[in-house]
Amino acid sequence: MNQGVTTENGLINEFVREFVGVVPAELLVNINASIASARHEWQPPDGRRASASARQFADALRQHDAFSAMEAQVCAAARLWIRQTLGREANDAPVHVLRCVGSRMAAQSYLRHFDSHVLTVLIPLQCAPDGDQNGDLIVHMRRCEPLAPLIHLFTKAWLFFEHGLPFGLRRALVNSGLSMRHCRRIRCVPGNAYVFNGFVTLHHNLHVANGERRSLIIHYYDAGLEARLRTMLRAVRHMRDRLAGYS
Ligand SMILES: [Fe+2]
Repeated sequence: MNQGVTTENGLINEFVREFVGVVPAELLVNINASIASARHEWQPPDGRRASASARQFADALRQHDAFSAMEAQVCAAARLWIRQTLGREANDAPVHVLRCVGSRMAAQSYLRHFDSHVLTVLIPLQCAPDGDQNGDLIVHMRRCEPLAPLIHLFTKAWLFFEHGLPFGLRRALVNSGLSMRHCRRIRCVPGNAYVFNGFVTLHHNLHVANGERRSLIIHYYDAGLEARLRTMLRAVRHMRDRLAGYS
């Protein structure tokens, strides 16, 4: 769904589309002010929370024609992709996530993964100061075959292992991919939206060395193929934590 269509908003590369100016500047200011004023109410260790606030911010965006037109367009394309590729109709409600990441969250960076949902809309709200470590999104050129569950299983198992590696090792692993031009860095700009198929596109974020990066992320249409796998991984993680004495 991310290929073959060029609009005035165009393709950043073959996997990610950028929709310029779909978030009004005034609304952006209000959302950031709202987050700043409510920081004491939530501070999850991973900086990530599916919250009523995230849903409210998305609903506020939907009041604006540019955003709602973009959303209708990419959702229609995603439903078509699911119909043609997975052979079913998609109609489940989107999941809204607010993600605020700062310099003390190194454990949240360089976590390469696939999303369980087919369509991901990333709306940057506030960027960290520019530099090598500003939390930018990285997409990998290698894609996962959506109808190859065994490959999916082995890839997930490897990524699960990779997420447990120390920060420096994870970063070295990912940077080796960058140096080999296997990845593309998406320089996000608040006010724009970035759209991709996270179910088949491997991706991760850079570390945030200074300041705080804030993003609203909307996931649409759970592919459903990973539900059993997630249950299994959760059980393994629980067992690992018990053996390590965390619970
Ligand atoms: Fe993701």
